[in-house]
Amino acid sequence: MRYLTIALTKGRLADQTLDLFEKAGISVSCMREKDTRKLIFTNEEQKIRFFLAKGPDVPTYVEYGAADLGVSGYDTILEEGRKLYEVLDLGIGKCRMCVCGPESARELLAHNAPIRVATKYPNIAKDYFYNRRRQTAEIIKLSGSIELAPIVGLSDVIADIVETGTTLKENGLGVLEEICQLSARVVVNQVSMKMENERISRLIRALREVTA
Ligand code: PRP
Repeated sequence: MRYLTIALTKGRLADQTLDLFEKAGISVSCMREKDTRKLIFTNEEQKIRFFLAKGPDVPTYVEYGAADLGVSGYDTILEEGRKLYEVLDLGIGKCRMCVCGPESARELLAHNAPIRVATKYPNIAKDYFYNRRRQTAEIIKLSGSIELAPIVGLSDVIADIVETGTTLKENGLGVLEEICQLSARVVVNQVSMKMENERISRLIRALREVTA
C-alpha cells in the first residue's frame, strides 16, 4: 500500500487540525515534536505521511498531487484558485474576510468612489471590488501587518482577515463590510480522489464525525 500524503498549514491552524486528526483515529503524535527542523513525518501503521507547509503553498502541493489531501483556510483556497476538490469544512479557524478601515472611509464605499485597497489577498479583493461591488479600486499587495496601510496613508481601506477584531481595535480601525466567512477546509487532489477513493473517503468520514 502506498503512503497517503497530507499537507497541513503551519501556524495558528496546526494544533487544532492535529487535534481533529487525533480524534478521528489518525495518530499524529510524531508531528508534535517541538524542537525539530524535520519537515515530514510518517505514520507507519496507517501508511500516512504528513508535512507542514506555509498556508498559500498547501493548495499548490495538492493540485500537483505531491500531497493527496490538505487542510487549508478557505481564504487561501479562494485566493489561490487551484484545481482541487474541496470536500469538508472542519469548522475550525473560523473568521471573516472583511473590508476594514477608518470610519472616514465609509464615504468612499457608500459613493462607490475610486478606492485604494491594501491586502494579502489581491485575487479576493479584485473579485470583491470589480465583480461584486463594481467599484474602481487600486489593489496593493502586501505581505503582512496589513492594518498599517490605512494608518500611514498607503491605502484607504484593507481587505483582510478579522478573527477577534483586536488588531483592528488597537489600531483605531473597524470592519466596514464583510466579504465572506472563513474556516479550515479539507481539499483533495482530483486524481487521488479517483485512485485512492476508498482510503480518502474513509478518512473524510472519520473527520466529518469528529467535526459534527
Ligand atoms: C491576521 C490578520 C489580522 C489579524 C486578525 O494576521 O491579517 O492582522 O490576524 O486577528 P484578530 O482579529 O484576532 O486581531 P496574522 O497574525 O496572521 O499575521 P500578519 O499580520 O502577518 O498577516
